[in-house]
Amino acid sequence: MLKLVVLISGGGSNLRALLEAAHDAEYPARVVAVGADRDADGFQHAEHFGVPTFSVPFSSFADRGAWGDELLAQVRQWEPDLVVLSGFMRLVPPRVVEALAPQLINTHPAYLPEFPGAHGVRDAIAAGVEQTGASVIVVDNGVDSGPILAQRRIPVLPGDDESSLHDRIKLVERELLVQTVLDIANGTIDLEQESTA
Ligand code: GAR
Repeated sequence: MLKLVVLISGGGSNLRALLEAAHDAEYPARVVAVGADRDADGFQHAEHFGVPTFSVPFSSFADRGAWGDELLAQVRQWEPDLVVLSGFMRLVPPRVVEALAPQLINTHPAYLPEFPGAHGVRDAIAAGVEQTGASVIVVDNGVDSGPILAQRRIPVLPGDDESSLHDRIKLVERELLVQTVLDIANGTIDLEQESTA
């Protein structure tokens, strides 16, 4: 059984999908804790499923390094096999990435390497593309530049704005994330191998 710590910043709809999947006894992963860089709305999903939460507010620390060290300490308490960045909107400091990689994955609302960064959906709309996508990657020390584990194309429809497009992307992200964690748990995806390929 793969033990997951999921890190969020916002509403946690992707977290919710993982919690629902992991509620099924057949699914080979469990969310053991949910962390955030603030008092995130998505904590309600963890509470609904009786999963403990922790918050490491960025503003409470002198610098990014000190914040990252505390985040790592909190994550490690749960002895996770895999850490999932699921709408975690802060760059994780390099020493935290190095400590957790390659058992550190991220979901992103674009077809990487297209539109990396904090505004993947807005940037796709601004670029006027006809299709964008969703990706799940291994986190490395770049911005959304790690090995791609799964991704799917999603059309941009006439009249789409950032919100409507993001809502449709999230439907796909949920499926990709749940499937990717399943693939990692059953060995179909080997994170060590993906990271050295
Ligand atoms: C998701 O679309 C996720 O890919 C994105 O934030 C959203 C969180 O939604 N993350 C990034 O843009 C990271 N660069 P959620 O809180 O409802 O799961």
